[in-house]
Amino acid sequence: MGISIDIIHGPNLNKLGSREVEIYGTISFEDYLRKLNDKYPEVDIYFFQSNIEGELVNQIQESTAQGIIINAAAYSHTSIAIADALGIKEIPIINLHISNIYTREKERHQELIAKYSTAGIYGMGLQGYDFAIQHLINII
Ligand code: DQA
Repeated sequence: MGISIDIIHGPNLNKLGSREVEIYGTISFEDYLRKLNDKYPEVDIYFFQSNIEGELVNQIQESTAQGIIINAAAYSHTSIAIADALGIKEIPIINLHISNIYTREKERHQELIAKYSTAGIYGMGLQGYDFAIQHLINII
């Protein structure tokens, strides 16, 4: 039987492919998601992106998936509300950053949501999502 995974994206990640391409690359997430869907037909991947903190909290609360991959973007560093929402979930949560946040500005080194995550991936580019799915397939 297949498994269900939510990929949740925070602010500005809707601009992947055109935003700071030297850091985030030139592929849009929609294009990459198509590749992931082709590679993992047994996984039901639901994708949600919002620039609005409360919408991300709602999505986390309402998620019925068996695992979550979250890149909360800048909110990872600031949002107690998103951290609290993740803290309520009793499913595996992978906290993911496309870039290596620890080699970037100091304000990106703090991660309020990391504490509520099962595992974390950073600095692997979009390939990190592939690894996150593989890990969730293994543990769910
Ligand atoms: C990011 C890193 C964050 O610091 C930044 O605000 C983002 C993207 C990443 O995927 O590398 O928007 O989460």
